[in-house]
Amino acid sequence: MRSHYCGQINESLINETVKLYGWVHRRRDHGGLIFLDLRDREGRVQVVFNPEQVDQFKIAESIRSEYVVMVKGRVQHRPTGTINEKLPSGKVEVIADEIAILNTAEPPPFRIDEYSEVNEDTRLQFRYLDLRRAEMSDRMRFRAQVNHSIRNFLQENGFLEIETPMLTKATPEGARDYLVPSRVHAGHFYALPQSPQIFKQLLMVAGMDRYYQIVRCFRDEDLRADRQPEFTQLDMEMSFIDEPTIQTLIEKLMQRIFMDVLQVELPNHFPRMTYAEAMRRFGSDKPDLRIPLELVDIADLVRDVEFKVFSQPANDPKSRVTVLRLPNGADLSRKEIDDYTHLVAIYGAKGLAYIKVNDRQAGITGLQSPILKFLPEEVVAKILDRAQAENGDILFFGADSAKIVTESLGALRIKLGQDRGLLEEGWRFLWVVDFPMFEWDDKEHRWQSLHHPFTSPAIQDPEALKKDPGAAPSRAYDLVLNGTELGGGSIRIHNADMQRTVFRILGISEQEAEEKFSHLLTAFRYGCPPHGGVAFGLDRMVMLMTGGTSIRDVIAFPKTQSAQCPLTHAPAPVGEAQLRELNIRVIKKTL
Ligand code: AMO
Ligand code: AMP
Repeated sequence: MRSHYCGQINESLINETVKLYGWVHRRRDHGGLIFLDLRDREGRVQVVFNPEQVDQFKIAESIRSEYVVMVKGRVQHRPTGTINEKLPSGKVEVIADEIAILNTAEPPPFRIDEYSEVNEDTRLQFRYLDLRRAEMSDRMRFRAQVNHSIRNFLQENGFLEIETPMLTKATPEGARDYLVPSRVHAGHFYALPQSPQIFKQLLMVAGMDRYYQIVRCFRDEDLRADRQPEFTQLDMEMSFIDEPTIQTLIEKLMQRIFMDVLQVELPNHFPRMTYAEAMRRFGSDKPDLRIPLELVDIADLVRDVEFKVFSQPANDPKSRVTVLRLPNGADLSRKEIDDYTHLVAIYGAKGLAYIKVNDRQAGITGLQSPILKFLPEEVVAKILDRAQAENGDILFFGADSAKIVTESLGALRIKLGQDRGLLEEGWRFLWVVDFPMFEWDDKEHRWQSLHHPFTSPAIQDPEALKKDPGAAPSRAYDLVLNGTELGGGSIRIHNADMQRTVFRILGISEQEAEEKFSHLLTAFRYGCPPHGGVAFGLDRMVMLMTGGTSIRDVIAFPKTQSAQCPLTHAPAPVGEAQLRELNIRVIKKTL
């Protein structure tokens, strides 16, 4: 057994004999002595070998990086001039009496003892080596601390940790399902859960009152830096609850996690903003409040101008004409503006009109813009007033359908914030509330849930809901942190009639509802309490807290952007016999 971890060796142990196990981080031969930096999960310590101890010295000479060794020795002060202030063990060293090589190691495919540029596929292929790097093992430890803090808080607040099935039926959360074929029931499939949504609601029917789970969820969807095919949620549900109570509890949970793990004190209360306001002012339902830029609507000012690019959308209630002011942006070059024009084009914008404000006092001659010739001077003056333009600013314009303007200027706002270094420091939490129930899907010509089909509408009359689904507000809420959606939840429907109405609006037929959700609809008949809950992306939370940019960095064994695992080579073909047993025939794709 070890007496200490390497990272725990410090001045308090001077003259004590310690027994350490670990990996050789680096070996240096120096002035007749051999130095080994020995590393384990908790850190590193310097071990010294003296040539007078002939046998030990000989073994030390044969040691290479990443060998696994046992060392016994005495802790001593380092000689003056050799202190390493950066290491917690940097004031001391261990004078070795005994060494044993427990295993040898081939040279690793990339350096573990110092930072080196390695492509991510190689890191993932040799993830067990990548995880030896302090940066990565710190993240794993950090993540474990977050879990620990969550469990403590929820335990203290009366939550039961309950596991729900992984082999189950589809739960709609807007992605494709991962399916698992049943051997016993030919042609039948389990779905891996996109979330435990229905089970946690059933646990409320069961009277469990307060449930939580740190749970793996599976979604076959387009992957990005903040999306993995399998990821972890902190999933919660409560009975007899309303929005303010849930939100307050979550604020306390976040305060606790941030204090426990980062020693950061969060405010007692996080601000709330309606979905409509977030979209209008920030062009996003997850606004990054660290960026001090806002969208300002000017449709009323340009309704009568001859410039059709502006006047047409200004007279269409489904469109927006909006200005985004970038303070001190008048120095942007033609090329930079062209690049931003390409960015907004991704969202469907047909152009990116702009006005540079060189000298407001000089009137129209103090401005520089391709659209001035199309706009009356007094309209330009009103636009500048509304946008609070100052000398040196640039104003960007979006004029199109509300969706295109909101999305394109929302994306431009973030890009400008990043490019111009405008991001303010801090943890900017925000509750986004009053989401609409439904969103019209132009491609599929039907209503979609903005959250999921189990979210309660804020109006209780099914007839009113059916009459104008687009106008119905829901009881959903999202928690946003620094522009990332950390989590979302809602008060649920707890009545079968309302649930059927919502299914109908979503184009789910009676028969389909019965096939897919009869277990939930039946449960509603047996005394379902009013209930609600929330789920957080734990990977995203840990990513933000550790200052990372990809959730892959806080997952021990993540998948690549193409949903593969370079370590195990999953997914992989399976043999004929296994397929036959599962009654599956694979159709070969012809290219
Ligand atoms: P939702 O679908 O919003 O809600 O998911 C909750 C949170 O999970 C995280 N998340 C993901 N993280 C990584 N990779 C993914 N592919 C991924 N997809 C989602 C996000 C998101 O905010 N059942 C509801 C919750 C509820 O209503 O209680 C649900 O799953 O951070
Ligand atoms: P045009 O008359 O099409 O040459 O456009 C004049 C200016 O308006 C150019 O700077 C375009 O980039 C810009 N523009 C064109 N369409 C839009 C739009 N829908 N929204 C914002 N700016 C636009």
